[in-house]
Amino acid sequence: MTRYLTFALTKGRLADKTLEKLESIGITCEEMKDKSSRKLIFVNEELRLKFFLAKGPDVPTYVEHGVADIGVTGKDIIMEENRAIYEVLDLDFGKCRMCICGYPKAKELLSHHEMIRVATKYPRIARDYFHNKKHQTVDIIKLNGSIELAPIVGLSDVICDIVETGTTLKENGLEVLEEVCPLSARMVVNQVSMRMEAERIRSIINKLREKL
Ligand code: PRP
Repeated sequence: MTRYLTFALTKGRLADKTLEKLESIGITCEEMKDKSSRKLIFVNEELRLKFFLAKGPDVPTYVEHGVADIGVTGKDIIMEENRAIYEVLDLDFGKCRMCICGYPKAKELLSHHEMIRVATKYPRIARDYFHNKKHQTVDIIKLNGSIELAPIVGLSDVICDIVETGTTLKENGLEVLEEVCPLSARMVVNQVSMRMEAERIRSIINKLREKL
């Protein structure tokens, strides 16, 4: 009996987009379309596939441990988690940017190698950017959400955060000061699965690539 290939998807909008893409290459999961369902795991017996819904930052964990063969989550999360997994495909949706943002007057703090306070949900990305790219010593303050609040209330000088439309920044008088990197949804694969199930996984990657 063919073994199940298991997908770990990021709960929410990213999972919906991922399912749309998978559907375009003939991979469906009817069970998952019921929006009122609180089920977390779904099976397509015919294709021998399983899908589960996880929080974004947990997707690389499931994939590294091999309980999911394939995962789909944001590049931000993949960089921050830094797990031993293969990133195999840029899915070209969920596009946004990781940026250093703040009040316009904070811009000069970024050009003088001064010690500044950076609030972020992504301490690894922020540390890597300031230490390795800008050679600037910073004090990283880890927050879990509503990062834009930090410079407003005086917790930090700047933030390192995701910008999609820029609306949150604009409505709070903040702006993009520097761009760290572009982001989008990526497909990741467990390193052992990539060898053991090479044929099935490669075929999925290739079909998806053709749809990009
Ligand atoms: C993200 C991000 C920004 C916002 C950017 O937050 O952290 O706050 O979206 O989007 P925009 O540029 O289109 O305004 P999210 O809504 O995921 O919630 P969070 O504040 O809990 O991180």
